[in-house]
Amino acid sequence: MSEPNWANQTIWTGDNIDVMRGMNSESVDLIYLDPPFNSDQDYEAPIGSPAEGARFKDIWTLDDLDVAWHGEVAEIEPGLYEVIEAAGAAYGNNMKAYLVMMSVRLLEMRRLLKPSGSIYLHCDDYADAYLKLTMDAIFGKDAFCNSITWQRHSSKALSIRKYARNSDRILFYRPSGGGTWNQQYVEFSEKYLETFRYEDDFGRYNTQPLTGGRPGGEEAYGEFRGILPSAGRAWAPPRREKFPPDAQRLLPSSYEALGPISKCEALDEAGLLHWSRTGNPRYKSYLSMREGVHVGDIIIDIFRVTGQEDTGYPTQKPVDLIKRLITASSNPGDVVLDPFCGCATACVAAEELGRQWIGIDIAPKAADLVVQRLRDELGLFFTGIHRDDIPRRTDLGVIPPPAAVDNRRVLFGQQEGRCRGCLVSFPFRNFTVDHIVPRSRGGTDHIDNLQLLCGACNSTKGTGTQEELIARLKVQGIRP
Ligand SMILES: C[S@@+](CC[C@H](N)C(=O)[O-])C[C@H]1O[C@@H](n2cnc3c(N)ncnc32)[C@H](O)[C@@H]1O
Ligand SMILES: [Zn+2]
Repeated sequence: MSEPNWANQTIWTGDNIDVMRGMNSESVDLIYLDPPFNSDQDYEAPIGSPAEGARFKDIWTLDDLDVAWHGEVAEIEPGLYEVIEAAGAAYGNNMKAYLVMMSVRLLEMRRLLKPSGSIYLHCDDYADAYLKLTMDAIFGKDAFCNSITWQRHSSKALSIRKYARNSDRILFYRPSGGGTWNQQYVEFSEKYLETFRYEDDFGRYNTQPLTGGRPGGEEAYGEFRGILPSAGRAWAPPRREKFPPDAQRLLPSSYEALGPISKCEALDEAGLLHWSRTGNPRYKSYLSMREGVHVGDIIIDIFRVTGQEDTGYPTQKPVDLIKRLITASSNPGDVVLDPFCGCATACVAAEELGRQWIGIDIAPKAADLVVQRLRDELGLFFTGIHRDDIPRRTDLGVIPPPAAVDNRRVLFGQQEGRCRGCLVSFPFRNFTVDHIVPRSRGGTDHIDNLQLLCGACNSTKGTGTQEELIARLKVQGIRP
């Protein structure tokens, strides 16, 4: 873990890859990211809204990328690059470009997260399946916790002849498998509460059977207050922990050691049995002892942004949605990072929950909006910090001089991972750098004269030219 090299409440304007590369490792507790979804459209805020002027791009082509990123991903995580290749094969080059763009950033996020940290990736069905593979390859399948579905109550691109697209996905990973987790509960439904229709000194209760199907000792089939359990059932009095603490005090200290009939008698004497009008005993199950229902992975109780909350920023998410995630996966004082923060919803949510935060967005409008929102919504005399520089890591000790541009990474990207001879894809480490025009024939070391070949093609080429290599491979039937 290292000290952060930035201050709480910083909003950054810039490309998050540059900013994150300058941030110290293991300095963040929770990352929420809501990147462009590869939706094949560009977004713009409506004129007249507070967000007017905000726009971002969500159409990806291989030309948008720094070609060296391909090589970077392939070198650091060969398995991840295979996933990206597969996505390209299944979907096309724009998915490949999108995933390369995302992967270099997710690899930085992995470095920034503390071992106890969590990451939530907000996406939708344009790319969720591809992002799931990508996240598994980066964080490991065991780090995967949930694919949360959030029903937006509004539809994207309504189209005829298929179901309305009205939900997003949020992929939740907790890298260490352990990490921070605060269980959230949902309120009981009215229907459920209605079943607790009785009340005594210990509170509201409903009734549960005092018999069970599991065979006990012989005594469990005997008479209790002159009543036999119904056929096939046995007396099965509950454990003392089932009752509220005040009620537990009325049971004898030897309760757990008693036989089933004596337990039923002890419960009856403590007033913890409910006798029906037909004379059947059941035990009292108190509402106060119900933990509540664990919040599930389908969120339908949080509505899309409307009214006051709506800044007009395209794709703005509800504060309550992000608050739920932050509450579950962080504690007060923890650091929340949103590297695609848009109008800074996650920053507002973090501030309201007493967490530290930093937001990054490439659009300058985001910084204006966060200041405005924090002042409006929190009534804060908010100053915050706005930066547009690139931070310098302070956790590296003495930094070696910058390495020369890594030609292999660039070439790998230019060639999209394929050998220039046989045209087959290979893992990064299987490639050798080759001079297209051999040095012996006047070829230079300039990158324009370099290419990657697999080992077999490189020895086939020997000291020959590229034309000679291709001619040989054609004779061998390796190239058409
Ligand atoms: C889907 S929006 C986020 C909306 C946000 N969750 C909210 O509630 O307002 C995606 C954002 O990512 C930003 N973005 C796209 N590429 C980026 C990059 N390379 N670095 C930083 N931000 C980027 C866009 O400007 C856009 O604001
Ligand atoms: Zn080859």
